[in-house]
Amino acid sequence: MSKKIITGVKPTGTSMHLGNLMGAVLPFQKNAKGNDAAIFIADLHALTSVKDGAKLREQSLEVAIEYLSIFGVDTPITIFRQSDIADITKLMWILTNVTPYALMLRAHSFKDIEQKVEKVEKEIAYNEGKLSLYSNTEIFKDDEKAKGSEEKIAQLRQELDELEKEWENKMNMGVFNYPILMAADIIGYDIDAVPVGKDQLQHLEMTRDIARGFNKFYGKNVFTEPEAIIEESVATLSGVDGRKMSKSYDNFIGIFDDEKKLKKRVMSIITDSAGVDEVKDPDSCNIFALIRVFGTDEEVETIYQKYLTPNIGFGYGHAKKALLEILTRYLAPYRATREKLLQDIPFVEAKLAEWAKIMNARLEAKMKVVREVVGVN
Ligand code: ADP
Ligand code: TRP
Repeated sequence: MSKKIITGVKPTGTSMHLGNLMGAVLPFQKNAKGNDAAIFIADLHALTSVKDGAKLREQSLEVAIEYLSIFGVDTPITIFRQSDIADITKLMWILTNVTPYALMLRAHSFKDIEQKVEKVEKEIAYNEGKLSLYSNTEIFKDDEKAKGSEEKIAQLRQELDELEKEWENKMNMGVFNYPILMAADIIGYDIDAVPVGKDQLQHLEMTRDIARGFNKFYGKNVFTEPEAIIEESVATLSGVDGRKMSKSYDNFIGIFDDEKKLKKRVMSIITDSAGVDEVKDPDSCNIFALIRVFGTDEEVETIYQKYLTPNIGFGYGHAKKALLEILTRYLAPYRATREKLLQDIPFVEAKLAEWAKIMNARLEAKMKVVREVVGVN
C-alpha cells in the first residue's frame, strides 16, 4: 500500500555533499518510489539560527534548486517551502497547547547545554570550597592540585560566562518549540513514515507523543502517529581525510562545487606514502573508497588491479586523476540541471508554488477537522 512520507531539510547554508547524497538524498528518492512523498525546506525552523533575511531566502531557494537538480524537474516528489504553508504555524500553536512543558524539557538540545552549565557551576563551588565532594564524581577527578587556585577559578568562571552567553544568545523560544513545529510538519499531513537521521529520532518520538496527547485530550482520533524510517543499510561515506564525510569536519566533496574546487578537494585526499611503483592497499585507501562507490564495475576492477601491481608507474596522483574523472562524469547531469535552473528562477518559483498549493490543500483538509474539534476558526 502506498504510504505518505515526508522529510524536512534546514536551509542553513552549506550545499549538499556526496555523503548527504548517498546517505540521505538518494535513499529518500528510493523510498519515494511507489509512495506519496514530499520533501520540504524547513525555513521556519532555520529562523532559530539564521538572522539574515536575504541570506535565508537565498539559501532556501538554493536547497530547492539542489533537490530539483537531483530528483529532476519532472519528479513525482513534492518539493515545497515550509513557510509557503499558511496554516502550519497555526497548527503548531494548537499543538503547543497539548504539549507538556515537561516533554519539551527532555529535548537533547536543551539538556546538553543545561547540564554543561550545571557541571561548571558545581566545579566552581567545589573549587571555592563551598561544596564537599564525593570522590567518584567525574568532574572532581581532574586536577586535584589546582583545586582552589585563583587561576583555576578564573578559568572556570570564564567557561561559565561563555556557556551562559551561548544559552542567552542561541537558546531562544524557537529552539524550545522546535519539536512542536516539527510535529505539525508531520501530523498535519497525515504522514505515515518519516525518513530521518538518528539525531532526529527524539523529535519523532515527541511528534508521536504530541499526536497521542491531542487525540487523548479531545477524545478523537484526529492525528496519525508516524513511524521513523532509519536507513541502517547505507554505508557511511568517508571524506578526504578518511573520517566520516561531514560539513563539520570540512572534509567533504560538494556535489555542486565548480571544477576547480572539486579538483582541489580530490587532490587533497590523504593517502599513505607508497611510491608509484609500490603495491598499494585499495581497501584502506581513501581515494579508492570513493572510486568504489562512484566508478563503473569495470573502472573499479581495473583500478583495483593497478593498486596491486608493482612497477607499472601507477601512483596516488594517477588514482586521484581517475577519481576526478569519475566524479566529474557522475555529477555532470546534476550540475547541468542546476545551471539551467539558475537561469530560470521564475520556473523554479512556479514549481514551488504549484507544490505549495497541493500541500496547503492537504493541510487545510486536516485543519477543518482540527478547528472543529478544538473550537476555533
Ligand atoms: P553533516 O555530517 O555534513 O552535518 P548532516 O548531519 O546534515 O551532515 O546529514 C544529513 C543527512 O546526510 C543525514 O541523514 C545523514 O544520514 C546523511 N549523511 C551525512 N554525512 C554522511 C556520510 N558521510 N555518509 C553517509 N551519509 C551521510
Ligand atoms: N528537524 C529536522 C532537522 O533538523 C528538520 C525537520 C523539520 C524535519 N521538520 C521536519 C525532518 C519534519 C523531518 C520531518 O534536520
